[in-house]
Amino acid sequence: MRRPLIVGNWKMHKTVAQARALARALCAAMTPSNVEIVICPPFTALSAVSEELRGSEIALGAQTMHESDEGAFTGEVSPVMLHELGVSHVILGHSERRAYFGETDERVALKVRAALRHDLTPIVAVGETLEEHERGEAFARVLTQTRAAYEGLANDEIARCVTAYEPIWAIGTGKADEPSDSDALLARLREAMPALRETRLLYGGSMKGENAAALMAQPNIDGGLIGGASLAAESFHKIIDAAQTSVHQATRA
Ligand code: PGA
Repeated sequence: MRRPLIVGNWKMHKTVAQARALARALCAAMTPSNVEIVICPPFTALSAVSEELRGSEIALGAQTMHESDEGAFTGEVSPVMLHELGVSHVILGHSERRAYFGETDERVALKVRAALRHDLTPIVAVGETLEEHERGEAFARVLTQTRAAYEGLANDEIARCVTAYEPIWAIGTGKADEPSDSDALLARLREAMPALRETRLLYGGSMKGENAAALMAQPNIDGGLIGGASLAAESFHKIIDAAQTSVHQATRA
């Protein structure tokens, strides 16, 4: 069975002081579980949160990165810099990066390779727009993005990556996808790309304590990429609890 993974994407939220407080609250409420947890604060708070997480079960992720080790790229942050801070995961190709910062499939592919080179686990975000969804093109869009991200990689390299399906129309809208619809899309993706059969596939887009159990109960959903509900310890822990319950149910089944 694939170990559930719950990732909190804090986006452009939390000052250093607020990030420290949230990391501390998350650690204090942790109980031993089979769920892997990653939190992704903004760059400015990575160092402080890394200190807070020392000795805890929670891993540290970044929200994006540049693909070069160093260079004249004003404003960018490299995988070497992330690694030094204890970062183990990095979200790549989030729809907000694609929409507002011009990230293309080709760029995402370069970043995936760079992350693997530096022993960072890429969490590759893919997903269709509302228009694509309404035209019935969701699967085609997701397949194109996923294939592009992993183009030319060996199966054992793809196995080190996590793929997060995030329908763009579900992000931050409070309207999550029907669990069975996302499951069906991810099942097709696994069929089309056998290298993904044993790797973890996440769902993202308005995942909350209230809908997490139904999403996590789906056989092809191995976890969640969570924005809004990851910004407070209580709401994030509700999702972790739902993921933990799904582990128990799967073991009993
Ligand atoms: P949301 O964001 O949970 O606030 O919808 C998810 C994401 O963008 O990763």
